[in-house]
Amino acid sequence: MTDPWAALAEYHRKTANRRILSLFDDKARFADFSAETDGLLLDYSKTNIDRDGLKLLLDLARATGVLARRDRMFQGDAINETEDRAALHTALRSRSDQPVMIEGRDVLPPLRLMRKRMYAFAEDLRSGRLKTAGGGLFRNVVNIGIGGSDLGPRMAVQALAPYHDGPRLHFVANIDGAEISDILKPLDPGQTLIVIASKTFTTVETMTNAGTAIAWLRRAMGEQATRHLAAVSSALDRTAALGIDPAQVFAFEDWVGGRYSLWGPVGLPIVLAIGAKNFDGFLDGAAAMDRHFLTADPERNLPLLLGLTGIWHNNICGFQTRAILPYDQRLARLPAYLQQLEMESNGKCVALDGSPLVRDSAPVVWGEPGTGGQHAFYQLLHQGTRIVPAEFLIAATGHEADLAHHHNLLKANCLAQSEALMRGRDRAAAEAIAAGLGYQGAELSRQAAHRVFPGNRPSLTLAYRQLTPFVLGQIIALYEHRVFVEGAVWGINSFDQWGVELGKKLADEILLMLNRDKIDTNRDSSTLGLLGWLGGKE
Ligand code: F6P
Repeated sequence: MTDPWAALAEYHRKTANRRILSLFDDKARFADFSAETDGLLLDYSKTNIDRDGLKLLLDLARATGVLARRDRMFQGDAINETEDRAALHTALRSRSDQPVMIEGRDVLPPLRLMRKRMYAFAEDLRSGRLKTAGGGLFRNVVNIGIGGSDLGPRMAVQALAPYHDGPRLHFVANIDGAEISDILKPLDPGQTLIVIASKTFTTVETMTNAGTAIAWLRRAMGEQATRHLAAVSSALDRTAALGIDPAQVFAFEDWVGGRYSLWGPVGLPIVLAIGAKNFDGFLDGAAAMDRHFLTADPERNLPLLLGLTGIWHNNICGFQTRAILPYDQRLARLPAYLQQLEMESNGKCVALDGSPLVRDSAPVVWGEPGTGGQHAFYQLLHQGTRIVPAEFLIAATGHEADLAHHHNLLKANCLAQSEALMRGRDRAAAEAIAAGLGYQGAELSRQAAHRVFPGNRPSLTLAYRQLTPFVLGQIIALYEHRVFVEGAVWGINSFDQWGVELGKKLADEILLMLNRDKIDTNRDSSTLGLLGWLGGKE
């Protein structure tokens, strides 16, 4: 059998100079190179992948066992091999009666019970049945967490603002005292619930912020402060040690990775904001994407196609980054959310067996909502020396019925950008523009050069009717599975994150030096020099 990587490299060599636009001579291109499920459309026709290319990419998925590994993930096998754990975030949103077994135990019934408790707590608070220590309403909720215990809920609460009818939500993640100070300053502790979200309940940022918030509550209400505390964690001994009432603690298992955890109790802020019914819609969307990933034909399977186009741009075309460009202001936090999802999952340099990877793993993921980005970094997308595959997200309809003209402009801009990236502007068109501006001779030529757009820059578009809870669930599950597909092709473990450990350990050591408890003079002169310059405890 031919090596699928070699076959793809050869195919790329033959097609690299082709214009993507020329592929549209085939009138069926959009229909054939887009796929839809439950109202979510992925258009990958503005890439340089044709039928042969798609076949080779699907061969690669087959050769690397992506679908077999997918089945192992869904059935609860310990595919997170360095931590000897399953990766069962899909169980958190399962709508099926099919048991999911870990060590001979069906994990679904306890998950459903926990969800029921979380919903009851959230609905009690939202309805005012759950009273503050002073007998009033909880008007504000502050979620304290970082990474997976922050990015998902923060992104989703903003994304689903039109459904937000619960208390006001605030998020604190950074250990920088500036964040918690600015968030707490305008709030009345007597009306505020603090949710401490941490899978491990050891994360220094979260524990430090939790300590500050608890002290803030205690100053206002003494021992009654515990009534204003809730926790989300896998470490129940630690939540108990902090004195949090078990009735206000929501647990999840260690086989749910932090960055995959927003479907369970880590989603509590989302439930508080939009209510249990809407959160159910969010889970339904994700579950629908799970079913699609499990059952759709490979040629029409959105996660597989999204993952394989990622592999194509990264490993075959050599593009180092990808831009996430939501033409949806409420998805402003999606790029940050995807940075953790993609880069913490797949930013690895060894394969499952510990051997060094022979090709690149996760690309750098970045982005900002359109249209703001157009007035900032799109210059580089259009005329820079680096090619950045762009991923656009756009709704057919906004939520602001009275502002439909805004949404039309938004759609026009989104479509114009992907078309411009692909089409570009050639020398003749640029010279005609320069001539129209009155330039002549050598100056015309110079001016025209600056107005040429190389074009032939690929993009994908993800389109949906409206950003509802269901659609957000679909989108997030789609990206989770894309990360899975890419990780499976590279043969890496997408579910551990050892790369975050070293910095944490060194921070502990440096803190000792800052406190002048233990100075290590053998460290490099930059670290010691900066330490001296920044100073320790006063
Ligand atoms: O440091 C990385 C990390 O472990 C992430 O994987 C995780 O989402 C985040 O820290 C927060 O962890 P925890 O929920 O245990 O506080």
